Amino acid sequence: MAADMHQNLEILYTRQQIAERVAEMGAQITRDLNGEKLVMVGVLKGAAPFLADLARAVNVDATFDFVATSSYGCGQRSSGAVKLIKDLDEPVEGKNVLVVEDILDTGLTLSYLRKHFMQQRPKSLRIATLLDKPSRRIEKIEADYVGFSIPNLFVIGYGMDYAERYRNLPDICLMTPDHPE
Ligand code: IMP
Repeated sequence: MAADMHQNLEILYTRQQIAERVAEMGAQITRDLNGEKLVMVGVLKGAAPFLADLARAVNVDATFDFVATSSYGCGQRSSGAVKLIKDLDEPVEGKNVLVVEDILDTGLTLSYLRKHFMQQRPKSLRIATLLDKPSRRIEKIEADYVGFSIPNLFVIGYGMDYAERYRNLPDICLMTPDHPE
């Protein structure tokens, strides 16, 4: 690992751009909730930084919960099937749920999760994703709140990984095939 993790990395969105967009999303979510309580459900691990920032940008009475699904594994390819590795700690029946995800890509993960959560009859269920790659969609699903819509690029940083690395980069960067190991 290079001493500077940012070396040779192309930044797609700077930490400042992310912060500004997250603040806007938080304000929008606050308006839409109209003073009601919220359960923010983060999809581990990638959504952790986004959830932490978004939670502080919403001005509502909020609690956190987390789920984990099977992910891309060690590379850029999805296995296709979604498996729930960690379920909610508390049922969300009758509650306003905001699912917080890092990237909406093929839509397989969020379609699976939406179906899973809807079985518990929440009062409302909305989705916030920091990034959206609409061109990659397999399942018909849209997020209610989208940070940035991007083309088919593989990104890392601000929670997003390549083989579990780079999640702690403060900016969202492009993963290029010739990136040094
Ligand atoms: P989906 O089920 O195909 O929508 O995939 C969602 C998950 O795939 C995201 O939560 C990410 O963990 C992962 N993913 C998709 N695209 C990228 C990317 O560009 N970089 C890192 N992870 C990604």
